[in-house]
Amino acid sequence: MPYQGPQRVLSGIQPSGDMHLGNYLGAIRKFVDLQHQMDCHFCVVDLHAITVWQDPKKLKEQTLHIAASYIAAGVDPKKAAIFHQSGVPAHAELAWIFNCVARLGWLDRMTQFKDKAGKDKERASVGLYTYPVLQAADILVYKATHVPVGEDQKQHLELCRDIAAKFNHDFDTPDFFPLTEPLIKGPGARIMSLRDGAAKMSKSDPSDQATIYLKDSADDIAKKIKRAKTDPEPLPSETKGLENRPEAANLVGIYGALAGMSDDEVLKEFGGKGFGVFKPALADLVAGKLGPIGAELRRLEADPGYLEKTLREGAARAAAVADRTVAEVKEIVGFIR
Ligand code: AMP
Ligand code: TRP
Repeated sequence: MPYQGPQRVLSGIQPSGDMHLGNYLGAIRKFVDLQHQMDCHFCVVDLHAITVWQDPKKLKEQTLHIAASYIAAGVDPKKAAIFHQSGVPAHAELAWIFNCVARLGWLDRMTQFKDKAGKDKERASVGLYTYPVLQAADILVYKATHVPVGEDQKQHLELCRDIAAKFNHDFDTPDFFPLTEPLIKGPGARIMSLRDGAAKMSKSDPSDQATIYLKDSADDIAKKIKRAKTDPEPLPSETKGLENRPEAANLVGIYGALAGMSDDEVLKEFGGKGFGVFKPALADLVAGKLGPIGAELRRLEADPGYLEKTLREGAARAAAVADRTVAEVKEIVGFIR
């Protein structure tokens, strides 16, 4: 019989830069809704961040920034456990056991490693290579059944299912780990750069004009959207007309995701209008949604003591669940306890 246990949610974000509109629409906004539906765990994945070099002083600040972003966007630390991954050692413990379950061939196929390691893969850290195994441990140490993420995480979530299935099979415990469902669908699963409709919006884009950050002022947002790459045509009146117009499609997608409208509904309103009309309307909408979040984020960041305490309390709550799973796994694997 497959897993029959309680439904749980786990997701994580790396403390490797400032939170942006893609993180908000692809991930954090879903966290806010899910906290009312299921038992939720949201971590700041600092162990993942150090798979590439992080300045230790900045790492601490960035960890608090992600925690503050969760709370500012509406995640309630009393409802969902908000914690730092390194504060729950069970993640790393289970990751080691999963390193012995996952196969080299599976990891060889991971595209994010290839993207991040670049041409000089000999010089990439070993941690970067086994990164998706640790991600599977993050999820399965809570026996999480659902993981809200953006589209770029699809392959990692498939690996997580493969690891769960192989563990369940090898140890003849078919109902032990769930086969976790990714929650990817919905508007905003893949927000693109404002400078290049073929590149995803990311923390590490060399141009800061490409990315809208949660902390951007209304003025910054208006400027970035005004300068966003587009084409000279007016907006089409149907979604078919967005084909081969990735930059226009991205801006329409952002508008729809924030306004709760489908692309068709956005085009019904703006079809035939030029970007001179659409961009200011989009800038107002983005600034209206992100403004209050940015303000709350700044307020929270001014109180690092509160943020650290929240993370520690969250870690203690999370550890109560995670330690139980690791104890069970040790028994299953045959370790002396
Ligand atoms: P990262 O910033 O890579 O740590 O990603 C944190 C979360 O945000 C993950 O769930 C990602 O899938 C999601 N995410 C990151 N960039 C984007 C984007 N451009 N569009 C949608 N979701 C994104
Ligand atoms: N790999 C994810 C990213 O880059 C971050 C992450 C780590 C994660 N562990 C996770 C996401 C567990 C979901 C669940 O965005």
